[in-house]
Amino acid sequence: DSIKVFAPATVANVACGFDIFGFAVDNPGDELVLRKTDLKGVKINKIEGDEGRLPLDASKNTAGIAIIKFLEAIGAESQGFEMDLKKLMPLGSGLGSSAASSVAGVFAANELLGRPLAQKDLLPFAMEGEFIACGSAHADNVGPSLMGGFTVIRSYDPLDIIQLRTPKELYATIVHPHIEVNTKDARNILKREISLKKTITQMGNVAGLVAGLMLPDYDLISRSLVDVIIEPVRAILIPQFDVVKNAALENGALGCSISGSGPSMFALSKDFDTAQKVGRAMQEGFSKVGIDSDCYVSGI
Ligand code: HSE
Repeated sequence: DSIKVFAPATVANVACGFDIFGFAVDNPGDELVLRKTDLKGVKINKIEGDEGRLPLDASKNTAGIAIIKFLEAIGAESQGFEMDLKKLMPLGSGLGSSAASSVAGVFAANELLGRPLAQKDLLPFAMEGEFIACGSAHADNVGPSLMGGFTVIRSYDPLDIIQLRTPKELYATIVHPHIEVNTKDARNILKREISLKKTITQMGNVAGLVAGLMLPDYDLISRSLVDVIIEPVRAILIPQFDVVKNAALENGALGCSISGSGPSMFALSKDFDTAQKVGRAMQEGFSKVGIDSDCYVSGI
């Protein structure tokens, strides 16, 4: 009565779609082993790869709270679980680390209990994990981590998630500079009001990106990977932002922006070789000021 699951990292926002767009990558991600126990409650045995920074108290841990809320909702509070969590990805990186843990937890619990809920219906519980991690229950990381592929959160209330078809050939490069940005801080610095002019530009890009992915039309994808609202504010949190972005574009990327709330940056490319070359150029941009980084290339 145990299960081992993997939940992938995700790139949220995807330039123009703040809190609505996100896609999953092949790696990195979180690995979680969940076991049924006779003792009531959720117990976290150990967490590896977090340098001791994540809480072992299940009610404060994103994977733990997602399971607790799920058990409450299905009326199975008497079921006990114990878990081992292996973080195979960096924290505070903009790669949906908290989301991957929440998704892994609730997905594993649902499987062990014989799937009382459909996969899509696990989303609100995974969002509880996001809420305790950063004070906001956004779904643009948990959505794609749970469902896979590229997802759109059409609405939060009621929750409405859509999986988009993407071109057969589309690759994501993610470069994670070794600095940390706290999602809560990166949300707090955002402007609360935006002009009508910027809203119209952003809506055009959101519509263009959806159409570009589905047609598919790479030039349209490229023209639409533009964020006039969030990126200009958050770019100041990432040293070398302009240098790294320009390096990606000069080396053939379709577009480049911040992954989630940063500091990781992502680029999309038409083919694998370009995605790799883009990654090397982006890493060079960070290394110019002595910042080490990791690079991941994955199909979407
Ligand atoms: N959409 C969220 C944000 C993602 O940009 O704050 C955080 O990972």
